[in-house]
Amino acid sequence: MIGYVAGHKWAFFVAALFLVIGAGVQTISAWVIEPLVNDGLVDPKPDVIRWLPIFLGGLLCVQAIANFVGNYAMAAVGRGVIADLRRDLFARMVVLPSAFYEQNSSSRLISKLVYDVEQTAVATTDTLTSLIKDSLSTMGLLSLMFYLDWRLTLIFIAFVPIIVVIMRLASKRFRSTTQKIQDSVSGITRLTREAADGQRLVKTYGAAAQVVNVFGEANQQNYRRSMKRARYSSAVVPVTTLITGVPFVIIMYVYLNYLMVAQEEGLAGIFMSFVGALVMVLSPIKRLGKVNEKIQIGITSSMSAFEIIDMEAEQDTGTLTVGRATGAIELNNVNFAYPWNTEAVLHDINLSITPGKRVAVVGPSGSGKSTLTALLLRLYLPDSGQITLDGVDIKSINLGELRSQFAIVSQEAVLFDDTVRNNIVFGSGSEFNAKRLEEVLDAAHVNEFVTDLPEGVETRVGENGVRLSGGQRQRVAIARALYRDAPVLILDEATSALDALSERYVQHATEALMKNRTSLVIAHRLSTVESADEIIVLADGRMTERGTHEVLLAKNGLYSELYHAQASRTASGQATS
Ligand SMILES: Nc1ncnc2c1ncn2[C@@H]1O[C@H](COP(=O)(O)OP(=O)(O)OP(=O)(O)O)[C@@H](O)[C@H]1O
Ligand SMILES: [Mg+2]
Repeated sequence: MIGYVAGHKWAFFVAALFLVIGAGVQTISAWVIEPLVNDGLVDPKPDVIRWLPIFLGGLLCVQAIANFVGNYAMAAVGRGVIADLRRDLFARMVVLPSAFYEQNSSSRLISKLVYDVEQTAVATTDTLTSLIKDSLSTMGLLSLMFYLDWRLTLIFIAFVPIIVVIMRLASKRFRSTTQKIQDSVSGITRLTREAADGQRLVKTYGAAAQVVNVFGEANQQNYRRSMKRARYSSAVVPVTTLITGVPFVIIMYVYLNYLMVAQEEGLAGIFMSFVGALVMVLSPIKRLGKVNEKIQIGITSSMSAFEIIDMEAEQDTGTLTVGRATGAIELNNVNFAYPWNTEAVLHDINLSITPGKRVAVVGPSGSGKSTLTALLLRLYLPDSGQITLDGVDIKSINLGELRSQFAIVSQEAVLFDDTVRNNIVFGSGSEFNAKRLEEVLDAAHVNEFVTDLPEGVETRVGENGVRLSGGQRQRVAIARALYRDAPVLILDEATSALDALSERYVQHATEALMKNRTSLVIAHRLSTVESADEIIVLADGRMTERGTHEVLLAKNGLYSELYHAQASRTASGQATS
């Protein structure tokens, strides 16, 4: 945090300077009460009567300016730190390993980015403000009190340790409650997001009441935890006031009963000035008492935010650049299990794909097809075995360079809440190629529906593409992959949401764009992979068969079984329709 504050050292310097001025002015204004009473009221002196009110007015102005500039500059530090923290947290978040996202929900990340960062920065600047201004005010006012009457001051100071001890006890509880509140806030965010994303599901399954119930629990939990913290935080001020009230009463008693009777000269002014300083010193002391609490909040939230910032990014040991690969892919004895699951998903996969060929991967659901594509893109590292691209181990290729060799249409078409066009040119650098865009709009049959959209390709698709149909979303995703113009194209169930006719059109049109490109096609509908140069059959993470459509049919294995099951289904479907 100190590093982040240091990034705004000039604003901080200005803030500190004016906070110091503010603290000084406060001490002076307590100090002038003495001449105001003694030389203005008790025994009026002409100069004092004329100039003191004007001097007081000047003090007020200086104090107002000092407070404004001090607080504003401190806010500049705070907001600056928040912006920097968010920038770094977000930048780190997007390069964390895929496995991280299996352990951390997006709402948890949102709550870190929104809530924790804010808390961290606010706690830091509040603490700094207090430490500078309040500690100086306290010191200045206490010194003045000493100067005015050391006996009364000693009585007051005797109580300060008690105040500090009680503050310590209260703030100990704080850390745990703050963390718990943050957890429950992320629960609320998650439920809200899920209910909004799944609003159709909630309605059609009549689950509104159920969802409201679950939310109610999370909401109540947040309420209870917040109230628990509120109890501590509300107790701090009254407790301090009570504790500081005691010395006040004692001082009053001592003064009225012992010192007053001594009839010392100018005692009235000294006492009023002392009382003024005493009243003024209470607020900064109370705020200093709260500093501990602020620090606790700051520590818990900054730990939560820095946890991500300090996390290790995706490992990139690769240094080699390959330029534009030809697309020769080879897998040698590849074994893989997901990090949080010991059971192997892929066993001893051996595979070799010749550049420019079209290879299909088929197999039952859960057999590891999508996992295979994730390994190619190095989203995960194989536990053993080797994957090579153009004969080079992909581990030794620079990560960005490696991924730029692939264009993928993943199983779930992911669209951003942006225009159709921006979704298609996404991630393809800054150069915009209008001709290429036209080509891919045609090839992926996006033009078919995009012309009917209110603003054509400039129409925003909504969050996750809600304003498009499932098939339209897939076509945009296909267009994006084609636009990328990478040597290897991976289509994971890319056309599953299209009707058979559109699928054939898209396939036909993309073939032209796929010329001179290696492509890996995953499909459940086997009719779409018949023409592949080679078909690989995966079952339970093992490669059981490979060959062309004809060869595999002749084998009478899993492929022919799957094929015939689908063929007969289509046939009976036709018969009944
Ligand atoms: N992120 C993950 N963490 C842990 N296990 C996973 C993860 N993703 C997939 N799995 C498991 O790995 C296995 C293979 O999943 P994969 O997604 O590769 O199957 P698939 O062949 O693509 O299936 P489908 O045809 O249904 O898309 C499944 O048993 C699945 O439960
Ligand atoms: Mg899959």
